[in-house]
Amino acid sequence: MCGIVGVVGNRNATDILMQGLEKLEYRGYDSAGIFVTNAQHQSKLVKSVGRIEDLRQKLGIDIAGTAGIGHTRWATHGKPSIENAHPQTSTSGRFVLVHNGVIENFKEIQDRYLKNDRFIGQTDTEIAVHLIAKFAEEDEKMPVLDAFKKALDIIEGSYAFALMDAEDPETIYVAKNKSPLLLGLGDGYNMVCSDAMAMIRETSEFMEIHDKELVVLKKNSAMITDYAGNPVTRDSYRAELDLSDIGKGTYPYYMLKEIDEQPSVMRQLIQRYTDADGAVNVSDAIVRAVQEADRIYIIAAGTSYNAGFGAKMMLEALTQTPVELGLASEWGYGMPILSERPLFIFLSQSGETADSRQVLVQVNELGYPSLTVTNVPGSTLSREASYTLLIGAGPEIAVASTKAYTGQIATLAFLAKAVGETDGLQAASDFDLVKELSVVAQSIEASLSEKDKIAKIVQNRLLTTRSAFYIGRKQDYYVSMEAALKLKEISYVQCEGFAAGELKHGTISLIEKGVPVIAVLSDPLLASHTRGNLMEVAARGASTITIAVEAVANPGDDIIVTNVHPWLSAIAMIVPTQLIAYETSLQRGLDVDKPRNLAKAVTVE
Ligand code: G6P
Repeated sequence: MCGIVGVVGNRNATDILMQGLEKLEYRGYDSAGIFVTNAQHQSKLVKSVGRIEDLRQKLGIDIAGTAGIGHTRWATHGKPSIENAHPQTSTSGRFVLVHNGVIENFKEIQDRYLKNDRFIGQTDTEIAVHLIAKFAEEDEKMPVLDAFKKALDIIEGSYAFALMDAEDPETIYVAKNKSPLLLGLGDGYNMVCSDAMAMIRETSEFMEIHDKELVVLKKNSAMITDYAGNPVTRDSYRAELDLSDIGKGTYPYYMLKEIDEQPSVMRQLIQRYTDADGAVNVSDAIVRAVQEADRIYIIAAGTSYNAGFGAKMMLEALTQTPVELGLASEWGYGMPILSERPLFIFLSQSGETADSRQVLVQVNELGYPSLTVTNVPGSTLSREASYTLLIGAGPEIAVASTKAYTGQIATLAFLAKAVGETDGLQAASDFDLVKELSVVAQSIEASLSEKDKIAKIVQNRLLTTRSAFYIGRKQDYYVSMEAALKLKEISYVQCEGFAAGELKHGTISLIEKGVPVIAVLSDPLLASHTRGNLMEVAARGASTITIAVEAVANPGDDIIVTNVHPWLSAIAMIVPTQLIAYETSLQRGLDVDKPRNLAKAVTVE
């Protein structure tokens, strides 16, 4: 997936595109490019491999462009190179296109329509722009919009397209299917972009674009139609997003800022989901949807999937409904036999993950109710699900997700508590969530004050290792899965989160002298068993590290976490592991926020 941005009107296009791309870099950062033009038909196309900063170095003299499109890439078809970077152009150079998504039938298009064309790169996008050019150039009378439409009728797959015709510097043609895209409206200028956050310097007025809609964007108008040409009228909306949210402030990395924000995320969630009397306040319709379900299916990817596990035990206890987890990328290709009255919960920080959306489309076709728990209001998964609960954690920019994980579990805690209370469950009334989440916030704060200690542990035990293990049982096993993912993502240490008791059934063969094995210990009934497993690996040379809550702590434990309610232990226990991952990446001299090969929002399958 990639990020795209376009602007037309009374603004310095280069400046706007570059600022937008910087904010979109989380969507991909292996190459980038911009095309700008002006009323005098001067134009400039600049591309570079690497980060937006590398592109900035290559910009050269400004042509005072008033319109343009830009792109930051996460390679799918073809390696990161100048040839494969966007914007992609037609052979004549007249048509210029940026694209986020994957064109599934690009090979067939090439064979059927573009046999004689010469391509300079390997991208599916180059095929698309050649196809548009073919239709526009073989029939001079055909308006560009019609040529674009004709191409869109043939193109299959996911896309957010922004197209420019060098002969018309005052128009951007836009189309979308499955990939995120929205308009930003200004006074004398208009924008199009993959993410509102990348436009908020310029505007706070936005307009949605739905799948299979086309937009003709000019400085004073945005004309939306469906592919059959029927006009679409839609209200714009104002979103007062806070610019300071997307800055790093004094932090060296977004990830550290976001880890540090977690206590305040907990407190904000208390505000969001309680009323003036302190009672839990979740929409009746959502509570009813859970009550009516005979099974809850949580569908997610990556960290959000792990967050689903972190909340499973509590959800089951308080809703008295079995909870099953599904990996979105697997369920998209076939669901197991479902219960009679399923409720699907989509957990997604971005609300844009293509794998999750693929499942949601099927859920909607089957007519089942769905709830999206997301950090991004108005995101695709939020729009398309029956209900939404917002995490409200503020923008998460670092690729490695931290505050969204803890925020998701806390949000689900409010849901679980609301359902339990409505059902008259004693355990729900006994569970003082507002107090318990305040305790969690304090526990996180205590862990955050251990940064120096954690930095030393990393320096002594993790700095040069190639592999590591996190182990735990039950809830601590789920935390281990997320802890391992964090370490892998940003430090490139091969790390597995393992059920402590399972290690001896095979994987213990990987333990050799010095391999770090980190135990997560929060459950008084299980801690001694996990400690036993730790002894087994220590006997085989492992370098053992313990993260324990006070209640189960032994002298000599490495990191102590202050006690929290067991249903919320995943929130508290994950924090030291986030810091371990951060420190390991930092001390290895890696780019903490933008690890190799990854992107924040994965909008391709
Ligand atoms: C990407 C990100 C992960 C994230 C996953 C799911 O792979 O790199 O950090 O957990 O997508 O994203 P979502 O936005 O659906 O939570």
